[in-house]
Amino acid sequence: MVHQSFKMALSKIDTEMDQEKYLREVTRHFRGIEKPLKYGPVVENLSDLISALHSEFSTNYVNIEMVNHLMLSYKSNPKEWKKFAKFDRYKYTRNLVDAGNGKFNLMILCWGEGHGSTIHDHSDSHCFMKMLKGELMETRYSWPESTTAKDHLENLKEGEEFEYHDALQVLGKTTMGVNEVAYINDNLGLHRVENPSHSDTAVSLHLYCPPFDTCSMFEKTTGKRVQCNVTFWSKYGLKSENH
Ligand SMILES: [Fe+2]
Repeated sequence: MVHQSFKMALSKIDTEMDQEKYLREVTRHFRGIEKPLKYGPVVENLSDLISALHSEFSTNYVNIEMVNHLMLSYKSNPKEWKKFAKFDRYKYTRNLVDAGNGKFNLMILCWGEGHGSTIHDHSDSHCFMKMLKGELMETRYSWPESTTAKDHLENLKEGEEFEYHDALQVLGKTTMGVNEVAYINDNLGLHRVENPSHSDTAVSLHLYCPPFDTCSMFEKTTGKRVQCNVTFWSKYGLKSENH
């Protein structure tokens, strides 16, 4: 009996590992789709979206185009997401909506007037960002180019190397309106997201797969990279204990 449950636990780990490996592999070529799929299912509301996502992630080979389609197909209805939208006066908040059985994280981000993120990566995961209210501006950057300046610094001893980075290069800027979906992964670069409005708040729905709780932040002028933990302001509509 013990042996049997141990075997079952092992096969569960295998399945999860396979999906994770597969999803990371797909980040190498997937670039996101702009329009819903012609014959894709129609999402009626937020709970429909969540069930459809759960069924999409129930197999190893997740159809990432379908995930993108589902995010596009949902039409923002504040009545459905209001309970998750918790704001802070000083910075944008991350509010967990669904933990996707450990396969994906669906969350709502609330942006006060003028709030913005740092420049960050996405820990080798897929990131979909759908506007629910207001507007957000996304600035994309290329990864910092590192240079080994062995010859340039006179005071370095023999064999010593000094690594520095150049300022991050801007790849483009996009402003997103309600119901639009943006997609990014590490192969497409880094980004910073901000609410450009000083009079209106913004709300966005994010899906990350595989989920992650650490990522890297980057300094714009030096390209310096810092590892950071990401936390939730609230979970399932309830404020987290540490806030
Ligand atoms: Fe991001």
